[in-house]
Amino acid sequence: MRARRSCLAVPGSNPRFLEKAQSLPVDEVFLDLEDSVAPSAKEGARRSVVAALKEGDWGGKTVVVRVNDLSTPWTYRDVIEVVEAAGDRLHCVMLPKVEEAAQVRWLDLLLSQIERTVGLPVGGIGIEAQIESARGLVAVDEIAGSSPRLETLVFGPADFMASIGMRTLVVGEQPPGYSEGDAYHYILMRILMAARARDLQAIDGPYLQIKDIEGFRRAAGRAAALGFDGKWVLHPGQVAAANEVFSPSQADYDHAELILDAYEYYTTVEGRGAVMLGDEMIDEASRKMALVISAKGRAAGLTRTTSFQRP
Ligand code: GLV
Ligand code: MG
Repeated sequence: MRARRSCLAVPGSNPRFLEKAQSLPVDEVFLDLEDSVAPSAKEGARRSVVAALKEGDWGGKTVVVRVNDLSTPWTYRDVIEVVEAAGDRLHCVMLPKVEEAAQVRWLDLLLSQIERTVGLPVGGIGIEAQIESARGLVAVDEIAGSSPRLETLVFGPADFMASIGMRTLVVGEQPPGYSEGDAYHYILMRILMAARARDLQAIDGPYLQIKDIEGFRRAAGRAAALGFDGKWVLHPGQVAAANEVFSPSQADYDHAELILDAYEYYTTVEGRGAVMLGDEMIDEASRKMALVISAKGRAAGLTRTTSFQRP
């Protein structure tokens, strides 16, 4: 699985942002042809995105292009122009406003044709599907199982809030008048369940108040606590917070590695199943939980600061 703690949105029509994005320490960049590009700039943006893919230095980042959604005239040309010219530089295509599995299958087939035509490995380019409407959420299980190319489900809160008529204009914050809990809990959980049932990553969308880093942290922390793998960032100021919030703490990472070593020792050397590690009882389920934290920690580049001492 690719790391996606921080996924930077970069308007495809802005050469300065396309340049700047290369130097930011994000796990993923997505070069946008959709909602951050004006209709009159769509065709020029395709050329800028292709140039940035071919000439840019994207380091070890996951590189994605977001095409326009299938209700527009632009989608097929977005895919064909970008993937034919620079498919070898691209990890995934992001499809916004997905409402049914057939839309993802369409993209899958088109990508296969282009890959065959230009001599890329068929199936090599992944898909990220944005869930950003009531229709998309209701169909999310079917969407999650629609193609082996799918790598992530991505929540699009701005479009989603518009779609359901949520009574606020502040994306990612609780709607005024709702003080009973988290207005996003059901949506986030629904997407997370569909994703995990198919071994996909789940990514939270943007927080638009870019000056409010504490607000960003709060919204990101909410998704991270449930199990989400990362969140969009719109501004350099949000990057460090995203990377931090979606990485395990050093203490949790050390503890997870300790559980794995201790469990390995007790089950193999001593032949026991449920054992004590300090004051904590650990068993096979603890090992599974530790594997998750350990994998996230390693992906985040953490190294352990403690080691297991055999009794
Ligand atoms: C992102 O695309 C959103 O609509 O929030
Ligand atoms: Mg959107």
